[in-house]
This record gives sequence, structure tokens and C-alpha cells, in this order.
Amino acid sequence: MAEVIVLDSPEDAGRFVAAHIAAQVRREPTFTLGVATGSTPLPVYEALRAESAAGTDFSRMTAFALDEYVGLPAGHVESYRSVVDREVTEPLGLDAARVHVPDGSLDGIETAGERYEAALDAHGGVDLQLLGIGRTGHLGFNEPGSSFGSLTRVKTLTERTRIDNARFFDSLDDVPIHCVTQGLGTILRARHLVLLAFGAGKAEALAAAVEGPVSASMPGSAIQLHQRVTVVIDREAAASLEYRDYYRWAQDHKPQWQGI
Ligand code: PGA
Repeated sequence: MAEVIVLDSPEDAGRFVAAHIAAQVRREPTFTLGVATGSTPLPVYEALRAESAAGTDFSRMTAFALDEYVGLPAGHVESYRSVVDREVTEPLGLDAARVHVPDGSLDGIETAGERYEAALDAHGGVDLQLLGIGRTGHLGFNEPGSSFGSLTRVKTLTERTRIDNARFFDSLDDVPIHCVTQGLGTILRARHLVLLAFGAGKAEALAAAVEGPVSASMPGSAIQLHQRVTVVIDREAAASLEYRDYYRWAQDHKPQWQGI
């Protein structure tokens, strides 16, 4: 079962997750972090910057992003390559050669998925994968109906996701229709999944992912198949969890020696 940790705020959650990542990096400087985009992981990245300022050296870390839009002009400010560079690569001093984002350029898009899988395999996979969850239940951009065995490939975004992401663009028409995303099968190969969710708008999808039936109709429920999952959320996102009192009880009685 996933470990569910309910904290008071996204900032507390960001500090909690960043402290864990920083401790791992201090132990193993070549740690590989799977980075997510969107609003959800931003408190983690902010707290990682504080860990960096406090002396943790992230320069040998490798990063793999979950997904990328298809067809945005190179250097577009909302491409996930740009977001990862701005939020992670530059402020944490990562070597840009060790930061991987699926290639969403139209030229060669047919092989973008295979090329990304090959890069992941050649590297030896991801140690800790940060995940948000969409209101459709998507992980990465694996919309409902995605196979649990899927690998990195081109997907079509749902209208719900395009509307949710329109806030980053000038208009809905500017939001790409296609993306390249790690598959659910790719995500499940990461050695530790850390799923974050904040706010009431995520409560339903989060509860369905953590406690609902395992189903391709709820891509987030794929986490129930993984052996090591930590769900870090705020009280609003926890509101629809049936067993939240138990999760709290388990936290209050957690053995000292257990990490996350
Ligand atoms: P958000 O998106 O963090 O911007 O809410 C999460 C997601 O779509 O996976």
C-alpha cells in the first residue's frame, strides 16, 4: 500500500520531499530524479533550491522529465524543457547534459518515444519519480484509457487537460493537442514514486487513485501496483480519502527506523 502523508500546506510538503531528496543526493551524488511539471511540484523545487543554498551539491544528479508538448517552437517558455531548465537545471546547478526531456519537435516525432526509452534504459532508470495527478487522473500525460504497460509515446491530451493547462498559455488555442509522455509502464519502473497533490480540486482524483479500483480509466490507480509509493498531500487534497484517519494513525506510530 502507498504511504499517505498529509501535511498542512504545499510548502510543508515541498520541504518534506526536498529534504528526503537532498539526503539521498548527499549519500549518492549521482542520484536520478524524475521531474514533473505543472504547478504541483513547484514547492519541491523551491525547497530544493533552499537545500542547494544550504550546501547540498546537486551538480552530479541526473534528471528525466515525464513529458513534453508536441510542436511548440524550440525555446518556447512553456515547453517542459524550458520549465525544467528554469525550475531545476539552472537553479540547482545540474549539468544540462544530464537533464533529459522527451523531444517534442515535429521533426522525428515518430521515434521520440523509442529514443526516450533508450535513454532511460541506457542510464539505468530513475531512482525517485515525482508525480502530480491531473483532474482526469492522469500521471504524466497518460490520460484515461492509457495501458498500464504503456511506454513513452505520443498521446492526445483530453479537452479537460488542455483547459486546465490553458492558464500557462495566452489562449486555449495555443495549448498543444499532442504530447510525448512516459507511459504508465515506464513510470512504474522508477524505484520510488512520490505522488503530490494539493487543493480541493485534486481530492476526487487522488482518492480514486489511492483507494479506488485499479483501472485504466483512472491512470493514477497504477500506483497501487508499485512496491514503493509515497503520497504527500495537503488537507484539502486528502478530503475524499476514506482511510485518512488510518493514514494519520500510521504516521503517528511510524517506526523511527523507517524512512519514506
Ligand atoms: P498541476 O498538474 O500540477 O498543474 O495541477 C498536475 C498534472 O496535470 O499532472
